[in-house]
Amino acid sequence: MKYAVTAATGNFGQAAVKALGKLTDKSNIIVIARNQEKANKFFPDFEVREGNYDDVDSMTKALNGVDRVLFISSQPGGKVSRDIQHKHVVQALQNAGVDFVAYTSFPDAQNSVSALAADHKMTEQLIENAGIKHAFLRNNWYLEDEIAFLQMGANGDSASYWADGNAGWALEREFAEAAVKVLVADNTKDVYEFAGPMKTYDDLGKALQQATGKDLDIKQISKDDYTKLLAAGGLDDTTAALFAGFQDPIQEGSLDHASTDLADVLGHAPLDLADAIKEILSR
Ligand SMILES: NC(=O)c1ccc[n+]([C@@H]2O[C@H](COP(=O)([O-])OP(=O)(O)OC[C@H]3O[C@@H](n4cnc5c(N)ncnc54)[C@H](OP(=O)(O)O)[C@@H]3O)[C@@H](O)[C@H]2O)c1
Repeated sequence: MKYAVTAATGNFGQAAVKALGKLTDKSNIIVIARNQEKANKFFPDFEVREGNYDDVDSMTKALNGVDRVLFISSQPGGKVSRDIQHKHVVQALQNAGVDFVAYTSFPDAQNSVSALAADHKMTEQLIENAGIKHAFLRNNWYLEDEIAFLQMGANGDSASYWADGNAGWALEREFAEAAVKVLVADNTKDVYEFAGPMKTYDDLGKALQQATGKDLDIKQISKDDYTKLLAAGGLDDTTAALFAGFQDPIQEGSLDHASTDLADVLGHAPLDLADAIKEILSR
């Protein structure tokens, strides 16, 4: 059985390859990345192939002889739009005759109102229409997304946020570990709603206090004030607005999807928030 991980040089891909290497022999794993040189540095002991989502032929070649693929979604904002990149990847999966794909998606992708969900909804549909056996890994929020909030608390005496809603934070490596467990499993579900327990920013703030041992002032402020705070911290206005917008899905309820899938697949609960925060702050 040959397994491949795409976009393997990203944070998710690196964690996934590392975890997959513990589940199967390295000779069964093909690392696919658009930058082969970078991938060779990260993965000197693995077969590395160049595969660029911008180019169907490149991905088709990279997937030659592969049985099961972890297709890691691309980042929006590339020179080729993400929806087109993902169409290329699905076409390549078909061209190469791949048996099974595990695709990193978005919570409740088919019904979500989040702007971020649109590409994932489309990609899930393309995979379904292509008739490829699949598991949609609808990852909730990486705790690493909250680095600004966590560092505010770690470096100062307060931490602010604006969104009022639930998210199922867990470490990115935990989502990646679950992803590769699904990749190698004999019996899989079509959809996994991978999430940590539903928590608010207030809960996250309490966990941050526990992790840092500080008596922090955890404050909810307006989105406008939050954007200004980020700008005052050195971000340009566009980046500050972009970062503030990362809390939109939480405010709109798009991440409020409780599920035990992550714990079930991992075989244990994800780290509690305070321990997970300690892990991030110690990197
Ligand atoms: N659920 C969440 O909280 C959350 C948060 C952030 C992102 N995400 C999603 O999760 C995915 C993985 O996250 P991550 O942390 O690993 O992101 P990341 O560290 O930014 O990695 C993105 C990966 O995509 C690769 N890539 C970009 N354009 C490509 C192309 N044209 N062809 C092939 N590969 C390409 C990058 O390659 P290079 O190394 O060459 O740049 C990199 O390996 C993201 O792309 C996004 O879809 C989810």
